[in-house]
Amino acid sequence: MNEQQRKEMSQIKQRDAADRKSGQDKPLQEKTSSDFAKYFETTYEPPNLNKARKRGRDKVNVHYDFGIPEDIENIGVGKKFLIRTYGCQMNEHDTEVMAGILTELGYESTNNTEDADIILLNTCAIRENAENKVFGEIGHLKPLKLEKPDLILGVCGCMSQEESVVNRILKKHPQVDLIFGTHNIHRLPQLIKESFFGKAKVVEVWSKEGDIIENLPKVRKGKIKAWVNIMYGCDKFCTYCIVPMTRGKERSRRPEDIIQEVRHLAAQGYQEITLLGQNVNAYGKDFEDIAYGFGELMDDIHKVDIPRVRFTTSHPRDFDDHLIEVLAQGGNLLDHIHLPVQSGSSDVLKLMNRKYTREQYLELVAKIRKAIPNATLTTDIIVGFPNETDEQFEETMTLMAEVGFEAAYTYIYSPRDGTPAAKKTDNVPMDVKKQRLYRLNDLVNKQSKESMKRLENKVVKVLVEGESKKDPDVLAGYTEKNKLVNFKGPESSIGRIVEVHVTEAKTWSLNGIMVENTVEVN
Ligand code: SAH
Ligand code: SF4
Ligand code: F3S
Repeated sequence: MNEQQRKEMSQIKQRDAADRKSGQDKPLQEKTSSDFAKYFETTYEPPNLNKARKRGRDKVNVHYDFGIPEDIENIGVGKKFLIRTYGCQMNEHDTEVMAGILTELGYESTNNTEDADIILLNTCAIRENAENKVFGEIGHLKPLKLEKPDLILGVCGCMSQEESVVNRILKKHPQVDLIFGTHNIHRLPQLIKESFFGKAKVVEVWSKEGDIIENLPKVRKGKIKAWVNIMYGCDKFCTYCIVPMTRGKERSRRPEDIIQEVRHLAAQGYQEITLLGQNVNAYGKDFEDIAYGFGELMDDIHKVDIPRVRFTTSHPRDFDDHLIEVLAQGGNLLDHIHLPVQSGSSDVLKLMNRKYTREQYLELVAKIRKAIPNATLTTDIIVGFPNETDEQFEETMTLMAEVGFEAAYTYIYSPRDGTPAAKKTDNVPMDVKKQRLYRLNDLVNKQSKESMKRLENKVVKVLVEGESKKDPDVLAGYTEKNKLVNFKGPESSIGRIVEVHVTEAKTWSLNGIMVENTVEVN
């Protein structure tokens, strides 16, 4: 720390103390583990499904006035940050926002834990193994914190929204200095300030979702593809899922803000965007003043001059005819639809509260295929839901084949505290679940390989992302249907969409050679 910084810090401390004395500035929730129970009673409620279900349609305000308080503008100058991200695209994108905030504070990014002055673990709570990984990492970082007491070690993201996790960290992992959740990322500057100047741990977790903050800074991971949030939260309450508790109720961004962001990305040269939401098909349902849903949004984005538009995740229940009609226009709206089914058994779907049957799912697939004949479908599947029978699992296997999914993320059910499914007794032994997953994955691999085989000797359009991870002489990118292609071509094609002749199909990727005289596709 140089003299100037030391001086600034001392001024801030004095000002803070004066503000507190005069009662002008309410101290932040800065607590130690001993008074944490009291703190929880007053400002935090653990996930409570009944309450969450009843959560009202309180008005969501949109704020455009995010700014870094003057007194901490340069708090990160000469310092470095590192953020480790676990979980879904939503978390990846939140990390880009936190990186944006930290950069505005003057921090620079680093990949090396030893160089970092602040390390944030942006966590995921979806399954137990996701949580175990984070606890493992917290343990690994302990010696570093002991060596470097000034290091700020923070835990944020979905795990922080769980009371049991916060308690465990406070009890067993004193090396963690800062805990905040998914609803108060915009408070990162103030939280860092507290952590920096205060002696106690800083814990600030909001049990209730906040408003939408529009103008948060972002440092995006690349210059070719970008994430765009269209909504936050989830109101579906699938019985196995923690997300409605960790991410709060559904809140949609205003269409004009989304479209402006997409236009801006297009102007910056981005080639592909992915619209993000836990259940994008419910977009706009919370608007009271306009009748504007996901179909309308896609129709408007269709008109923006950006080559590729993807979206994730679609819930089958809200996938309506208008959306299918809009997607059928093609253009920049790609014909790859990720449509999680979770199970092929109507009985299990009912217990999961998915609100559709196997037959209804198949009807939806038929409708999509009729309107978009070349559509590629991929899915998510959970095996070993409590008391899932062999027959019910076989129904998942037959559905997998009947739909012809070209890829699937498959999981063994993991009980999450606070969800209804976790209270069920379960008569399916773990080795049976593992066996089922193994069989399902075999089928998924087979179907993926077949879909790749169909592309052999064909020409596909590839958005080139860079050199292949394994071989710098080979370039890598993705087709419109999101298939990985490794091919020989000039470096100048990075960031462009080029035509590649597929020479060989593998299970999860294609090999090829770039077609001469490729015309840029826009
Ligand atoms: N909102 C998205 C998915 C969010 S989580 C959707 O509904 O499709 C991503 C996937 O994780 C889910 O589709 C589901 O297959 C899986 N998942 C969620 N909770 C789980 C749990 N408790 N155990 C195992 N897998 C789970
Ligand atoms: Fe979880 Fe279901 Fe919401 Fe997806 S739709 S986030 S699985 S509750
Ligand atoms: Fe995980 Fe939270 Fe995403 S629980 S899957 S990071 S919404």
